[in-house]
Amino acid sequence: MTKVLIATDKPFAPVAVDGIRKIVEAAGFELKLLEKYTDKSQLLEAVADVDALIVRSDKITREVLDAAKKLKIVVRAGAGYDNIDLEAATEKKVVVMNTPGQNANAVAELVLGMMVYKARGQFDGKSGSELMGKRLGLHAYGNVGRNVARIAKGFGMEIFAFDPYIPVDAIQKDGVTAVTSVKELFKKCQYVSLHIPATPETVGSINYELMSSMPKNAVLVNAARGEVIDEKDLLKIFEDRKDFTYLSDIAPANAAEIVEKFPGRFYFTPKKMGAQTEEANINAGLAAAEQIRDFIQKGITKFQVNK
Ligand code: 3PG
Repeated sequence: MTKVLIATDKPFAPVAVDGIRKIVEAAGFELKLLEKYTDKSQLLEAVADVDALIVRSDKITREVLDAAKKLKIVVRAGAGYDNIDLEAATEKKVVVMNTPGQNANAVAELVLGMMVYKARGQFDGKSGSELMGKRLGLHAYGNVGRNVARIAKGFGMEIFAFDPYIPVDAIQKDGVTAVTSVKELFKKCQYVSLHIPATPETVGSINYELMSSMPKNAVLVNAARGEVIDEKDLLKIFEDRKDFTYLSDIAPANAAEIVEKFPGRFYFTPKKMGAQTEEANINAGLAAAEQIRDFIQKGITKFQVNK
């Protein structure tokens, strides 16, 4: 019997697991569950006899793939798949998919939530500021960027985006101004929100030059990946500019130093939680289960990322 494992260090909402179970069992497959595991050895043991795997940000390394002798497909229930060793998967003929867009609204709502929280002085009761009329720059205009734009428009923000992979028309039709470089985006916008994946080109790309070029009372928001920030430069910008704020769904490695030295100028979620809503868990989890069913039963490879 085809075995499907959900391996999530950060579990889905129970309602999403129930929904996945229904799809898996209706297809005649068996569901195994490994949640909140504390040691890699538990993952290595759990993958040994499964045909399919559903994960979130769980690290699917060559070692894990080696241990998963029967594995045919891994679905990352979410957008970014930098946690999966694609080269090793391809070598082993394991199909890797993501579920693009399924958790995008949840991430976008967190971005705006963090921005409001900061603009209102972390709800300290003192006079804050409003988002209306302020400029917001979106660094990438994929599923999350588009949702942030949709919500930010409701706040009356003026929105700009840079995305070399999206036609300018597709950006402008949303009432968003497409700019021609990352530099221009950072220079123009008091608020910049990052929506780029972690790739060899983007890792460390948000550097001192970009951050220091932002207008007065700059707010940088990161609900993408921690690795895209040059953390040495982040520290330097905190030191150089008292008006700079960093809001992130991923605490930087040097968070302790920032917390100690720059109170009130940052916000870091205690655990990455952009996609942590019941709705996003259901959307991404069920999509992952359906993609596995369709792949095993019909060979459908839509959303494969390691072609
Ligand atoms: C994604 O890439 O989909 C998001 O970063 C969410 O990641 P998570 O499923 O680990 O919360």
